[in-house]
Amino acid sequence: MQKYRSVRLTRKGPPEVLQVVESDLREPEPGEARIKIQATGVGRTDVIMRRGYYPYAPKIPFVPGYEVVGYVDAVGANVSRVAIGDRVAALTVYGGYAEYLYRSADELVHVPAALDAAEAVTLILNYVTAYQMLHRSARVQAGQKALMTGASGGVGTALLQLGQLAGLKMYGTASQGKHRLLQETSATPIDYRTQDFVEVIQQLEPGGLDFVFEGLGGNYIRRGFAVLRRGGKLVAYGNSGFSTLLRDLAQVQLGHRLPNGKSGEFYGITALYRKDRTPFFEDLPILFKLLEERKLKPIIGQRFPLLEAARANALLESGQASGKIVLLAPELLSAGAGMTPR
Ligand SMILES: NC(=O)c1ccc[n+]([C@@H]2O[C@H](COP(=O)([O-])OP(=O)(O)OC[C@H]3O[C@@H](n4cnc5c(N)ncnc54)[C@H](OP(=O)(O)O)[C@@H]3O)[C@@H](O)[C@H]2O)c1
Repeated sequence: MQKYRSVRLTRKGPPEVLQVVESDLREPEPGEARIKIQATGVGRTDVIMRRGYYPYAPKIPFVPGYEVVGYVDAVGANVSRVAIGDRVAALTVYGGYAEYLYRSADELVHVPAALDAAEAVTLILNYVTAYQMLHRSARVQAGQKALMTGASGGVGTALLQLGQLAGLKMYGTASQGKHRLLQETSATPIDYRTQDFVEVIQQLEPGGLDFVFEGLGGNYIRRGFAVLRRGGKLVAYGNSGFSTLLRDLAQVQLGHRLPNGKSGEFYGITALYRKDRTPFFEDLPILFKLLEERKLKPIIGQRFPLLEAARANALLESGQASGKIVLLAPELLSAGAGMTPR
């Protein structure tokens, strides 16, 4: 039987616990499609899973990889949504660090042929997260003011680009070396290592902000509520692990319930997707269209060959990368391109 390779998380631990394994390339089951993967993303949620803290991760061992773009290369019985040769995307949560993936055909979204695979894959998790927080949780309006914490990251840069398209006035916290990324979207950068963002914003915006999009957790939540105006809203989406998640959720609830006119909620793409896929199926095509029109410019921190997920995870954890790290099928990487930041 033909074989394919994937990168499996063998136990909790550092990037080295990610190991290449071989599996049989079987035929898809009824209702399933087999996808030849072109691109998959590496993000902070993968690190949280690798440490064993993510509620939607399966039991170890498993293959991580939260989002994929690829081609349908075989379909099982009763599949009509997609056909062999279709280019598709999926929010897989896990399974993407592989040459092939099996998925229910109901979960696939068509991807326009002209899009670059690396750019398209960044939209599935980071941009849908950012888009839904802006337009479904916050319902932002042009001219409103917002702070993005963790603004240089994958979700952060997506929030900045979509926030700019929505006409927001934006502030972002990021380390100094990444401020250029924020300035490109007309956001005012705040270096959290040398400046207290609460003080900076209280000085620049004494009336307070309409929204805070909070991607870091911990005391950023309490401080985020402090810079909101009365009637303002904090949308939290990031944290550093399960041990802090419960405390962070409690902080968001506390800020929401205090009788100060401010509100807060925790946004989670996977919880929403599992409850109802319709918003995801509506929003991802909107983002593909914006990318086709070049209204979005996903920041690709670095491109690695698909099976070099361990190296890609090490780079992510080093904090050196900005935007999204992407794993690509070898045919999409020119010689040496995997090593070169773009
Ligand atoms: N709720 C949801 O639906 C949802 C969806 C996607 C992601 N997430 C979560 O959102 C958060 C951000 O994800 P992401 O993929 O955008 O992250 P990311 O790309 O890794 O970026 C986050 C930023 O954090 C800073 N950082 C770097 N190294 C770090 C380290 N070792 N520890 C902490 N921060 C570090 C960096 O900025 P500076 O160098 O400027 O400090 C980096 O640009 C994560 O908690 C992730 O799990 C949530």
